[in-house]
Amino acid sequence: MTSVLTIENLHQTFEKGTINENHVLRGIDLTMNAGDFITIIGGNGAGKSTLLNSIAGTIPTEQGKITLDGKDITRLSVTKRSKDISRVFQDPRMGTAVRLTVEENLALAYKRGQVRGFATGVKAKNRAFFQEKLASLNLGLENRLSAEIGLLSGGQRQAITLLMATLQQPKLILLDEHTAALDPKTSLTVMALTDQLIRSQQLTAFMVTHDMEDAIRYGNRLIMLHQGKIVVDIAGEQKQHLTVPELMEMFHQNSGAELKDDQLLLRS
Ligand SMILES: Nc1ncnc2c1ncn2[C@@H]1O[C@H](COP(=O)(O)OP(=O)(O)OP(=O)(O)O)[C@@H](O)[C@H]1O
Ligand SMILES: [Mg+2]
Repeated sequence: MTSVLTIENLHQTFEKGTINENHVLRGIDLTMNAGDFITIIGGNGAGKSTLLNSIAGTIPTEQGKITLDGKDITRLSVTKRSKDISRVFQDPRMGTAVRLTVEENLALAYKRGQVRGFATGVKAKNRAFFQEKLASLNLGLENRLSAEIGLLSGGQRQAITLLMATLQQPKLILLDEHTAALDPKTSLTVMALTDQLIRSQQLTAFMVTHDMEDAIRYGNRLIMLHQGKIVVDIAGEQKQHLTVPELMEMFHQNSGAELKDDQLLLRS
């Protein structure tokens, strides 16, 4: 099995040396294999977003080593990493350019990491390709190519953001509670779409969620973070047959803490 991402002894501290010093990641070790779809769960402030930010490079690494596809990226800039790592955030407004049309947004994502030519606008060949990709989402968006993104609903925007994030076959995709701001029905649609895109392109993915059922349902591996440490890491068959009470018990055993009901969605 080839490893796509390795994290060795990662530590992150905010406001170091001040009274507010906060040691958020406390020695994370993790190896992700090609095609791993890992769900991450943990209470508020456990360090989930900080972990994703460290991988993407938006937070410089304080201590530790991050390797992507065999290359040390620990000190690489966000821009350089973004050629291989794509992200989808909670806020549907984050992933797209509001004043540009659907096809202009897709064209930008399509050009990511390529040398830009002189041509502006969207080529006919690309338009047909975008239309086909949009049609595969089954949301009728193939008829909205020239609509301004800002006019679409949050769910439609999040679906397009997902498409943009996967258009160039990234080495790694990071999803940070990307359905949390959507209504329950739209959230289900976008989650199903996420699963479909990740599986069909055999992407290596990291998905933060607050929903324990979703964390169990999706992906092939599940990680629980507690106070900046991985306290549960289960995969394959064991994860497939896991129940929410079992997961809570594992968390309790390994962390010595109780899960608070208001921090995680325990039921669907
Ligand atoms: N850029 C930052 N500067 C200072 N403190 C930060 C920064 N980012 C996160 N923190 C702090 O680090 C801790 C972990 O935050 P993080 O966002 O990683 O948690 P999380 O597990 O994603 O939580 P949530 O479920 O609420 O999204 C929190 O105490 C937070 O206030
Ligand atoms: Mg977070």
